[in-house]
Amino acid sequence: MSFDVAAAAEVLRGGGLVLIPTETVYGLGADAANPSAIAAIFEAKGRPRFNPLIAHVTGLAAAQRFAAFDARAVRMAEAFWPGPLTIVAPIHDEAAVCDLARAGLDTVAVRAPAHPLAQALLEAFGGPVCAPSANRSGRPSPTTLQDALDETGGAVRAALDGGACAVGVESTVIALLDGPPRLLRLGGLDRQVIEAVIGPLADAGEDAQRSPGRLLRHYAPQAPLRLNAAAPQAGEAWLGFGDGVAAPLSLSPSGDVREAAQRLFSCLRAADRLNPRGIAVAPVPEIGLGEAVNDRLRRAAGFVG
Ligand code: TXA
Ligand code: MG
Repeated sequence: MSFDVAAAAEVLRGGGLVLIPTETVYGLGADAANPSAIAAIFEAKGRPRFNPLIAHVTGLAAAQRFAAFDARAVRMAEAFWPGPLTIVAPIHDEAAVCDLARAGLDTVAVRAPAHPLAQALLEAFGGPVCAPSANRSGRPSPTTLQDALDETGGAVRAALDGGACAVGVESTVIALLDGPPRLLRLGGLDRQVIEAVIGPLADAGEDAQRSPGRLLRHYAPQAPLRLNAAAPQAGEAWLGFGDGVAAPLSLSPSGDVREAAQRLFSCLRAADRLNPRGIAVAPVPEIGLGEAVNDRLRRAAGFVG
């Protein structure tokens, strides 16, 4: 196993898989143009083939080589890249991001990650890299290299250690196709911040079927989750919020939604390791990144799809 950028780029060129730190979560990366490398991602994750991947690039110019960005998409990329925003746009070079990676759609999801190691790897590789979160399908996303190695480490020939992810939940996914901008997935960039640049976001609507990731039970630990709990019951692990107690599993002792997003997946994993009867989670306010935290918690609890 290699742990440096040049070797990781070489692994990508050879059709192998790499664990990549990003500011959101760790990704399981492969050459976007190589169908057998992309097939290995689906296999390692146990991911359904109808769920398309995100192509990662260094920035706007690299994205425009294969994605048709309209004026709105350009404005969004200029405002928020590199960062936790994924843009879905029509594809114009279908070979650059292979059919399997797009699940046969005529659109492509693109994002420029902000993590310096992700940027260095993309630069060294020189083309788009598809990378879903590095968990096995349906499990919480990894936010440290160790968690990523525990999930899919057996499938990779290189791994980069970028420390704990600063954002902690996946990127926000916006579709910029015909019609108004649509929010396909809540995530690391607040809805309000996006709307300040591009105006009101429509719900996913018919585009929901274009983002099949939304439809699955996802992010789930082993133990059942009980949300909006006032206190833990006997045998339950407790994920507190804003209770002023620096308990090891508190999402944020001070009640900061950003910190709760950053700690969410590692707290779910840590709670699971206690082998509890269940995991009780305190209410998290639906403001800023709290929206994405609650979205992930509802899916992890099995309330969506
Ligand atoms: O933060 C992130 O986005 C992380 C890091 C590694 O970059 N990646 C990530 O990838 O979360 P993944 O594969 O777990 O989620 C990709 C999401 C899914 O919900 C998928 O359905 C959606 O993006 N998606 C991909 N291509 C799409 C397309 N052409 N149209 C609509 N949705 C698409
Ligand atoms: Mg995922």
